[in-house]
Amino acid sequence: MNRAIRAGWVLGLVVLVARAAGLAQAPGEEVYKSKCQMCHGATGAADTPTGRMLKVKPVSDPEIRKLTAEQMFDSTRAGKGKMQPFKDKLTDQQIRDSVTYYRSLK
Ligand code: HEC
Repeated sequence: MNRAIRAGWVLGLVVLVARAAGLAQAPGEEVYKSKCQMCHGATGAADTPTGRMLKVKPVSDPEIRKLTAEQMFDSTRAGKGKMQPFKDKLTDQQIRDSVTYYRSLK
């Protein structure tokens, strides 16, 4: 087998494995990590510099825990306080998935 072909094979395999890993992730995880994590933190604890600056409540806060998924979806979609609206940046499905992922962090 010549080198270029072998390199092509290896590249193809890497792409396949990366894609499989992506699918194994929770659907909202990627969105959460790119759009929410800087304020809400990797574990939902809001322990990032931005989270602290904006005084974001941790996901474990009783005030947050009592919110329904629908209320969270609405606040994220329309924005709330210092959190800007996401309705023009994400699809409803992406907002729903990222909220589901956020709620899964305890
Ligand atoms: C720029 C920082 C920032 C980003 C990015 C951000 N948030 Fe927030 N989020 C906040 C702040 C600040 C609050 C508190 C709002 C308030 O109560 O005044 C908040 C509140 C919330 C709440 C509670 C809403 C409520 O009704 O009290 C949820 C749920 C939430 N965010 C989800 C998300 C999701 C999901 C994303 C990503 C799509 C996200 N946030 C991105 C700053 C951010």
